[in-house]
Amino acid sequence: MCSGNFAKCLGITLIPLAILCFLCNVLLFFPGGKTAANNEDITDEVWFFGGILGSCALMIFPALVFLGLKNNDCCGCCGNESCGKRFAMFFSIIFAGVGLLGAGYSFIVSAVAINRGPKCVTAYSNGTFVYPFYDGNYLSNNTMWDECKAPSGIVTWHLTLFSMLLIMGLVQVALCAFQVINGVIGTICGDCCGCCGDGK
Ligand SMILES: *[C@@H]1O[C@H](CO)[C@@H](O)[C@H](O)[C@H]1NC(C)=O
Repeated sequence: MCSGNFAKCLGITLIPLAILCFLCNVLLFFPGGKTAANNEDITDEVWFFGGILGSCALMIFPALVFLGLKNNDCCGCCGNESCGKRFAMFFSIIFAGVGLLGAGYSFIVSAVAINRGPKCVTAYSNGTFVYPFYDGNYLSNNTMWDECKAPSGIVTWHLTLFSMLLIMGLVQVALCAFQVINGVIGTICGDCCGCCGDGK
């Protein structure tokens, strides 16, 4: 098993995911695809920056570290060839932990946002933005979506983007958890792809 190669694959996968999460979070600042008149018109959970901070900013560093693992100086330290690599793999555990926290944060924020539903204008809210739903009651009943009078398509917008953030957050959590395990194996066994021409 090539723990360094595996980490590189993880890095390549994590970067597009991080960019997509960033974009989803940015789009959520435009309810129904339109510019909001007030900051209060945007669903509170969007301001928690789950996609921008959790799934992107905190994820970019682990992703770059994983990408670089393959190219680490493998000629080691203290006369031990695999020592440098082992140290890099150990280091990657810490970054995987940071990524795990960020993605977990985004996942939890998305789950809360989906459960609570979007802020929108209802027939009784006098043009202000309120939360017409609670406890995910709108998820199983499309008829209730009509309670949101404006912005048009806000429920679909909210649900689609937060669902994407939820799923991508979960994938990132899984990938970082794998890298924690991979990093532990790499630290104990060394990167088994061989280096300095020993070809192990
Ligand atoms: C769905 O919501 C509408 C409007 O609130 C309600 O009249 C209807 O009974 C609900 N349907 C179900 C299956 O709960």
